[in-house]
Amino acid sequence: MIPVILCGGTGSRLWPLSREAYPKQFLSLAGSDTMLQATALRLDGLPGLRPPILVCNEEHRFAAAEQLQEIDRAAQSILLEPCARNTAPAIALAALAALEGGDDPLLLVLPADHAVADTEAFRAAVAPAAGLAEQGNLVTFGIVPSCAETGYGYIRRGEGIGDGAWKVAEFVEKPDLATAEKYLASGDYAWNSGMFLFRASRYIEELAQHRPEILEACRAAFAGAARDLDFTRIDGEAFAACPEDSVDYAVMEKTESAIVVPMDAGWSDVGSWSALWELADKDDDGNLLLGDVLTEDSEGCLVRADSRLVGLLGVRDLVVVDTDDAVLVAEKHRVQDVKKLVTQLKRSE
Ligand code: GDD
Ligand code: MG
Repeated sequence: MIPVILCGGTGSRLWPLSREAYPKQFLSLAGSDTMLQATALRLDGLPGLRPPILVCNEEHRFAAAEQLQEIDRAAQSILLEPCARNTAPAIALAALAALEGGDDPLLLVLPADHAVADTEAFRAAVAPAAGLAEQGNLVTFGIVPSCAETGYGYIRRGEGIGDGAWKVAEFVEKPDLATAEKYLASGDYAWNSGMFLFRASRYIEELAQHRPEILEACRAAFAGAARDLDFTRIDGEAFAACPEDSVDYAVMEKTESAIVVPMDAGWSDVGSWSALWELADKDDDGNLLLGDVLTEDSEGCLVRADSRLVGLLGVRDLVVVDTDDAVLVAEKHRVQDVKKLVTQLKRSE
């Protein structure tokens, strides 16, 4: 089994900490390891594990390589994308790289920016899923939904196939709020965790069937790649011509071979400051205080003070993030909109 670690996203909702130059997967949000390091470390103990393939933007090659070195891990290869084309092409490049070895390994696709509280439960879900993937299935790991989140994919439960796994009756990526509420109330849906397990050749076959133009562009971009030690630089011109799409829309919504293995491992996408506040341990006033912070009569806040002392007095449910060159002050229930500030910032640059 080869882990494919996707670390090409921007994480704009965690501004001002997460930046284009240093997105959230390369940061440590609460613990000491970065999210990329935590992703690699939680694999320890999985049977039949081979070194990972990382797929990231060329700009982040040194962060990716150094962070693996720091935890004493070596990648099989680090694929460098000259531009972002979303996850369907990123996984295609990894599958092509994996197939170069001459065999047809299982690929465990992992976003580099998720938190998993219970790593043992994570491994306990992945290990038995290997047998199902060997048979040609495209396995996704399903999470019991706790709210009508519209940023996730939803999977409707089909026929049970033993060991708690079931066929996917329907896969709907990012439904609107009314639809998500309906799904949640029905009890028939799981969230797609964004982690997948399948044979490299099966992904290529499905992509060939549903989005052949993506596969063709990726084949050309991979064939034109330049090798440079651990780095594989994907051909810029060929990859720029690749259509942009996520694995969820390009393959998972369309394939007949998707199955779900449930995972109950304290999973969180950590997509926003409020998600981080929710999953972390808080003090008696419900505050999550990272860095040098003083509080008086303040509750339910998240404060991150990287370089200065921050004081809170008489406030509720605020997010305050202080970095060297920017400060965010937001109501906690509004933090999904932080990306609007990032859009403004980009326009003014
Ligand atoms: N290499 C590379 N290149 N990685 C990428 C790219 C890219 O162009 N775009 C995104 N990624 C990485 C991100 O860094 C992240 O680790 C992962 O791929 C998933 O991308 P997101 O952009 O975070 O996807 P999402 O959160 O909107 O949706 C996915 O995850 C949800 C769960 O968190 C989907 O799979 C949903 O169905 C799922 O519910
Ligand atoms: Mg995500």
